Parts: sequence; structure tokens; C-alpha cells
Amino acid sequence: MANDASAVFDTLSPAVSKGSLADPFTPPADSALWRKNFLLGAATASYQIEGAVDEDGRLPSIWDTFSAKPGKVLAGDTGAVACDHYHRWEADIEMLASLGLEGYRLSIAWPRVMDAAGVPNRKGLDFYKRLLNRLKEKGITTFVTLYHWDLPQHLEDRGGWLNRDTAYRFADYADLMSRELAGTVDAWATLNEPWCSAYLGYGNGHHAPGLANDRFATQAMHHLLLAHGLAVPVLRVNDPASQKGIVANIGRGTPNSDSAADQRAAHLFEVQHNAWILDPLLKGAYPQDLFELWPGTEPLVLDGDMETISAPLDFLGINYYFRTNVASDGAHGFRDVPLEGVERTQMGWEVYPDGLRDLLTGFKKTYHNLPPIYITENGMASDDQVTDGHVDDTQRISFLKRHLAAVDQAIKAGVDIRGYFLWSLMDNFEWAFGYERRFGVVHVDYSTQKRTVKRSAEWVAKFLKERKARA
Ligand code: FCB
Repeated sequence: MANDASAVFDTLSPAVSKGSLADPFTPPADSALWRKNFLLGAATASYQIEGAVDEDGRLPSIWDTFSAKPGKVLAGDTGAVACDHYHRWEADIEMLASLGLEGYRLSIAWPRVMDAAGVPNRKGLDFYKRLLNRLKEKGITTFVTLYHWDLPQHLEDRGGWLNRDTAYRFADYADLMSRELAGTVDAWATLNEPWCSAYLGYGNGHHAPGLANDRFATQAMHHLLLAHGLAVPVLRVNDPASQKGIVANIGRGTPNSDSAADQRAAHLFEVQHNAWILDPLLKGAYPQDLFELWPGTEPLVLDGDMETISAPLDFLGINYYFRTNVASDGAHGFRDVPLEGVERTQMGWEVYPDGLRDLLTGFKKTYHNLPPIYITENGMASDDQVTDGHVDDTQRISFLKRHLAAVDQAIKAGVDIRGYFLWSLMDNFEWAFGYERRFGVVHVDYSTQKRTVKRSAEWVAKFLKERKARA
């Protein structure tokens, strides 16, 4: 297999790699991207775009609490206003539709839709009903994530994901949402990136709720996965026509040398980032070497939990951003060895499309019951500026092109991939990095809330138009 996913497109149209709009996006004629049923969309998440944090009965979330603490988020930013999407949703959907995007992945703010006693909040529910109805009117395929990190603070006050009860509260929430929204959701994802919720939230404290303890991280992970497993059958009963899945972030770990120790380190990196989630979901067991790495951190698992967690999925959502080059830490684990001279993004993340292809083809070999895959997030941050009404985000165009080529290569290698969502539709609150890091294909001026379509969005729109014309 070719080593460089970008070669596929660059040989065809070198100007595109420089971001020139003069050249259309021309994937090879046999590319799966031309298939009309390969879904191309964009993604967002509630806390990152909605704002309106104390309107219409919304309760505080752990991100309101966390971002209010000094030093937790760059520049002291919070999601209080964000992209003001709660008030501007109609124009935002118009924008999405005008770009020709066929799918929209959004998340629901749990604290907006039910209170501590589980009583539904009608105003919050109505917001999502209006939004989803409008998307359906526009013919846009809807992917709804139930939990994209904004846990109600009242649940955190009772232990959050360290408390097994939160998993049962999540199933109640899934029950309410699927009864209320059935018919407007094409695909439900229970959780977004449980690894990040567990490790950044409870393991190193970089994210809400800001706790830092290895044992907490593994227990939170188990309860998150349990929450997923409890919710899937509920979603099936209430909304049988929709697809049910989960979204996992995956990371490529490559060895810094050919030494056996570094090879082992890269293997352990991927066990810790990928198998930790995918094994329980698809094999019904946690990977053996995981707790050899961190002895004494095994979560408390009750009888029947692994069967609950491994309930069959209709799809697996995959979020991919970068690779990590690792070496042995001299003991049992791994340490990052950042490569020099490689292309990086505003986040400092290495641009490495081959990692996406290699991970996907690897999963196909490892998991015999691998469900159909959607790439539910992929994209990059850049320090984008508006000049004369335009944003020339040439690196992003090149990034997207190369990652789409990697997806195409994985499809050709036999992986069942059905769609791809850009992260993100628009610049938004990038968690601990606040508003400084811009991931959108649409620029947001936070002082005026003006949206400006970037070159990358124009580029995607152009391709979608051409694909439609050819169909
Ligand atoms: C992912 C998150 C998403 C966004 C991107 C950049 O881990 O799911 O909300 O922040 O990273």
C-alpha cells in the first residue's frame, strides 16, 4: 500500500494541494467519494456552539463550572455565549444547507432537557425539536450525540462518572430523548470520545470536572461504557428505525526506532488509546496488557457489565486527528518523542493522514464484527484571519483532501466506511483552548457573531455540487 495518502490526489491536481480554488476537487474517477451515498457532512457540539447557558431552564454543566475557574481555560474563555447558536440556529442551518453539506452531527445538552429529578424541560426539548425538524425539511441526514461532555453539574456533585448511578441516569436521559425525538434522528451516538471524558476529565484534569487520578480515569471509563451499553437497547425500543452507535477518538502511535522496546511502546500506546474502547465494545473484554501498564487501576466491573457494554452496534463513529511518535520509557510504558520537521497545525498536532488509513485497515483485521464506520470528526485548527471578506485557509484544504484520500484508500482496502463529517462547521469553543483555536470551515467573529465562509468550505461545497451534477 502506498505510504502517502496525499499522493493519490496530488498527482492528479497539484494546485489543489496549495489550496487553489481554480482547481476543482477531483478525486480519482473510481473514488468512493463520488458515490452519492457516501455522506459528507459537518459536526458541532452543544457546549461549543450554543451559548445561552442559563436560558429557558438550562441547568449548569460541568463545563460552566470548570471554565469559570481561573487558569482552566486559555484567556479565561467560557461557553456562556460561544457562537450564540441557540439564537442563531436558523441562519446556521441555512448556511449548512447552502454549502450543500448532506449530514449534520450535533449534540444535545443534557442539562437543557431534564432536571435533577428527571423531569423533562419542555423549552429545552422544543429547541432540539425545532432544530431537527428544520434539518429534516432541508433533507439533511441527522447524527445526534447524546453526550458530548456537558454533564449536568448536579450529577457531578454526586460523583459524576465515578458514580455508577450516573450510567443509569444516562439511560433515563436516552429514554427521554429518543421518545421525544424519534423520527427526526437518523443516527444516535450515545457518547463522544469516552477516552477524553475519562482521561482528560478524571485522569489529568485538563478538562471538566478537572480531577487527576489514574484510578478515577479507569473507573470513569467503565461507567461511561456502561452508560453507553445501557442506553443502546433503550434507543432501539424507542426509535427502531434509526442507527445506534458510539463515537471513539483513535490515535496512531508509531515507534521511534526499530528496537523491540520502542515497537512494544507503540503497541501499548494504541492499546491505551484504541483497544481500551474498541475491545470492550467489540470483544466484550478489556485488553489484557492495559492493567499490566498501570497495575492497581483496574475498574470495579460487576457481573454482566461486559455483556451490556458489548451490545451490537449499527455503526462506529471514528474521530481522528494526529499521530504520536513514541519510545519506550525504559520501564513498562511509553513516552512521546515529538518528530522534528513535520507538518503541524495550530494545535501542534502532526498532520498524518496515513495514520487514519492504517488504523482503519488494522481494525478491520482485528475486529471481525467491525460495524460500518462513519468518520464523525476530522479537521484541523489554524490561525485564520478574514481579509477582504475571505479566509484563505489553504492548509485546511490540503489537510482535508489528504485525509479524504486516506479514507478512500481504506475503503478500497475493504473497510466499510459510509461517511465523513468535518470538524467543524464553524469556529467554536475549543475546550481548554477557548476561542483561540479555530477548527471551523466557517469563520466566526466572536465580537459580532458574523460568519464568514472560509475557502475550505467553498472547496467542499464545490465538490458536492459537482457530485450532485454528475449523479
Ligand atoms: C475532539 C472533540 C471535539 C473537538 C475536537 C477538536 O476531541 O470531540 O469536540 O474539540 O476534538
